[in-house]
Amino acid sequence: MVKVLFVCLGNICRSPLAEAIFKHKIMQRGIQSKFEASSCGTADYHVGEPPDLRTIKVALKNGIAIEHLGRQFATIDLEYYDYILAMDKSNYFNILRHDLKGAYSKKVFLMRDFNNMKGAEVPDPYYGGDAGFQEVFDILDQSIEGFIETQQRALID
Ligand code: 4NP
Repeated sequence: MVKVLFVCLGNICRSPLAEAIFKHKIMQRGIQSKFEASSCGTADYHVGEPPDLRTIKVALKNGIAIEHLGRQFATIDLEYYDYILAMDKSNYFNILRHDLKGAYSKKVFLMRDFNNMKGAEVPDPYYGGDAGFQEVFDILDQSIEGFIETQQRALID
């Protein structure tokens, strides 16, 4: 079982959408039993809240159901998860700040690293409009496709 955690800032826009897209794709491929996935935010602003309405809307528009309640990243997540996928560099460095001994840094990646977009970020859509949410959806769709392909190659090897 490969455990995957998607991380953004508020856990109401990018990371719950990433989690939902990932779960949808592994269901479509029939490989859902190989993975456990969740999402959280590095900030505590929206703990316990459902995703932003614009996130729910863009997910539904693209045929994906989304169900999540906000949770803040915790140090224990570094130990529990195998892949911790940060949406942007600020989230990435906030996660690594919990890794005091540098023991887990190899598990922490930027979300776009798996789609030949090393160093690129998933932009924060919170202060923008609906178009920004579709752009985030498209970026996540491609990045997650890349991540799953990497994982499937590892399953075969
Ligand atoms: P997210 O977007 O990190 O993709 O969930 C944000 C959500 C809320 C805030 C910032 C970004 N906020 O400042 O409340």
